[in-house]
Amino acid sequence: MTLFGTLRTPRNLVFGAGQRHALAGYAAALGRSALVVTDARLAADPEFTDIVDSLGPVGLEAIVFAETIAELPVECIDKAVEAGRAHGADLVIGIGGGSCLDAAKIAALLLAHGGKASDYYGEFKVPGPVLPLILMPTTSGTGSEVTPVAVVTDPDRAVKVGIASPHLISHTAICDPDLTRTCPRGLTAVSGADALTHAIEAFTTLRRQPTGTIVHEHVFLGKNALSDHYALLAISHIASSLKRACDDGNDIEARERLMFGAMAAGLAFGTAGTAAAHAVQYPIGAMTHTPHGAGVAVMMPYVMEFNRHHCEAELAEIGRAMGLDLSGMTTFEQASATIDAVDDLFESIGIPRTIADLGITAAQLPLVAEQAMGSVRLIKNNPRPIELETMAILVKAAFANDRASLRAAATQR
Ligand SMILES: NC(=O)c1ccc[n+]([C@@H]2O[C@H](COP(=O)([O-])OP(=O)(O)OC[C@H]3O[C@@H](n4cnc5c(N)ncnc54)[C@H](O)[C@@H]3O)[C@@H](O)[C@H]2O)c1
Ligand SMILES: [Fe+2]
Repeated sequence: MTLFGTLRTPRNLVFGAGQRHALAGYAAALGRSALVVTDARLAADPEFTDIVDSLGPVGLEAIVFAETIAELPVECIDKAVEAGRAHGADLVIGIGGGSCLDAAKIAALLLAHGGKASDYYGEFKVPGPVLPLILMPTTSGTGSEVTPVAVVTDPDRAVKVGIASPHLISHTAICDPDLTRTCPRGLTAVSGADALTHAIEAFTTLRRQPTGTIVHEHVFLGKNALSDHYALLAISHIASSLKRACDDGNDIEARERLMFGAMAAGLAFGTAGTAAAHAVQYPIGAMTHTPHGAGVAVMMPYVMEFNRHHCEAELAEIGRAMGLDLSGMTTFEQASATIDAVDDLFESIGIPRTIADLGITAAQLPLVAEQAMGSVRLIKNNPRPIELETMAILVKAAFANDRASLRAAATQR
């Protein structure tokens, strides 16, 4: 194997309890007029007000846009851009869950280059640097603070769409686990499951032949030596903390490990990409309004089973990173034990078992399969090549709680 690795990261990345207080120092070096993008919940939180108040003394005028809506309907971004333009913003600060961070990213893009979000859907459509961005997550989930993508809900599109460009990576990411203490159990579960799914999909994506221009051909270019490092780091931290953080939101050590894992997972999938579990969630989310993290987590064990022949050694390595004792087992058994452990972990934090539980009907399955195939940037990254017929088998198994038939098909190969 040729050793090939690449990272795309913010210029500054700081992690740790209390690091939110580093914001003013970073912001002062980047601008004079800040647009702060958040949502109504956070804007009413005294902790948030303190953070914004710290900007004035370092010479920044800040306005707060607090109308971000979860899962990011594209219209709310237009309002953020109007507010930023009227303020003469030269810096965008996103504080909140993935929806707020993605809103900040697209606002920074539109303030710099004009146009509409839809002008930039796809890969490498952003023509140059966007306004400087500082991102501070309040969930342990999306990793958006370090990734090159932002995802929106557009009423003109059947499923969610992404803008993927290295220009969307923040200048500075500040990860302070204290900000996640207010996350209720359900949010901790779905956002943490999203993070684990990022790490598993990044570690099992296709490994491409590294041509000399590969980094310019794909935003998400597949598994590589550096993304692997961060994926395993993420898996070990998330596996050891996700259930603990759900069971006891005051378990500060678990909150810390979970956020560290989510950030590392972002670094992993920010170059490697994600794959089939994310592709299937796009239509499911549109049809059922399921939160992103719940949909990808339901799909993950089925996708691991579906892909296993193309990534069995990787699945075993994931199991070891989760702390499983796999000694004395064949590689097939090690992969099976890993998939079962991911399934058990998700069940223990209340993730539904099937896409039927999320509200999908049998009649919708052909459309789910067809629309999932439309996420070309995700499908092309799956380790097992997928056609419509095999996608239909995958979604049917995820509907009927039938991992067993996928496993049986794998044993017959
Ligand atoms: N850009 C990326 O790299 C990337 C990756 C994965 C997912 N996403 C996107 O991110 C979004 C999901 O983000 P998310 O899972 O962080 O949730 P979210 O941002 O959609 O927020 C969900 C809810 O949680 C609330 N919330 C956020 N932080 C809180 C806290 N500390 N305490 C209490 N409530 C809190 C919000 O107010 C909101 O009501 C989706 O739109 C998804 O498509 C983006
Ligand atoms: Fe995700």
